[in-house]
Amino acid sequence: MKAVTYDTYGPPSVLRFEDVDRPVPRADEVLVAVHAVSVNASDWETLIGRPLYSRIGGLRRPAVPILGSDIAGHVAAVGPAVTRFQVGDEVFGDNLERKGGFAEYAIARERVLAPKPAGLSFEEAAALPQSAVIAFQGIRGRVRPGQRVLVNGAGGGTGAYAIQLAKLDGAEVTAVDNAAKLDFMRAVGADHVVDYTTTDFTRAGSRYDLVLDLAGHHSVLDHRRALAPGGRYLWVGGSVGTLFQVLLAGPLVGRQRLLVVRNSPSDLLEMAALCLAGTVVTHIDRRFPLAEVPAALSHLGEGRALGKVVVTVT
Ligand SMILES: NC(=O)c1ccc[n+]([C@@H]2O[C@H](COP(=O)([O-])OP(=O)(O)OC[C@H]3O[C@@H](n4cnc5c(N)ncnc54)[C@H](OP(=O)(O)O)[C@@H]3O)[C@@H](O)[C@H]2O)c1
Repeated sequence: MKAVTYDTYGPPSVLRFEDVDRPVPRADEVLVAVHAVSVNASDWETLIGRPLYSRIGGLRRPAVPILGSDIAGHVAAVGPAVTRFQVGDEVFGDNLERKGGFAEYAIARERVLAPKPAGLSFEEAAALPQSAVIAFQGIRGRVRPGQRVLVNGAGGGTGAYAIQLAKLDGAEVTAVDNAAKLDFMRAVGADHVVDYTTTDFTRAGSRYDLVLDLAGHHSVLDHRRALAPGGRYLWVGGSVGTLFQVLLAGPLVGRQRLLVVRNSPSDLLEMAALCLAGTVVTHIDRRFPLAEVPAALSHLGEGRALGKVVVTVT
């Protein structure tokens, strides 16, 4: 099968488009014929090997040779212990544990997959898993109508879903990203937008009931300045320095913690239902063929993507 592989951390030029053996599913594994796969910040981070947490399981060399977590396709074969899927079923899911989606076929454990709703295209289905579930677990159930929510790093894949969910729950939403993404964030639904290259939201004088930080680079004391009384801060991604500060000092300074996102096919199906109902819209910025995965990763990693980037495989 065709696949985009790598064996050393580095820029997209370390990737190779080549023929490799088609994997064989074992036990509870499913072989998915990939129709579409979306690109996530986690793919970029695991390509370049930064931040350091992206090297978990592979400190010196990549732990897996093929990136690509968010897959949508049909079941081509199943392992002997698989009970929920059979050959031909259309499935989608976040295969962060195994990756391998930048290929014609990928192996996923049964428990990370959900049946793809018929009304959702493979591209829309591939756009959802990681980003939509991070947004769902970061926003749903945490916001009351009228509360003020800030999403930092809101112009990317996850941010577009987070803005929409916070608006659905009645919040007043401030979205932070670079100047080129401000119009996009407004169009997605943000009430206020902030350019992080000119304005530090922790010093701008506004206070929020929830800060969802997809690009956390501030200190816990900075975060505290931006929180309303009783407000909460959730770190999702960003610098290792901020991660450790939030982990060690966040609870002491007050209501700051990491959001460790659980792989949840049921949350994914709830987000898919919102999309099918037209309540939440998936914004696909660009589509690339499989051979152009390096360009797709550059588009995201170099900060040009507005919403989701999707690779169409078959
Ligand atoms: N906690 C968990 O369990 C978990 C699980 C999976 C993934 N993650 C993390 O979740 C995050 C998801 O992000 P995503 O998929 O939405 O990524 P994305 O599409 O790359 O979007 C991130 C956005 O943040 C912006 N940004 C960069 N530096 C910034 C700064 N200092 N201040 C404000 N915005 C900044 C980027 O813009 P530029 O163009 O300016 O760079 C980009 O628009 C990633 O960091 C990923 O590693 C966490």
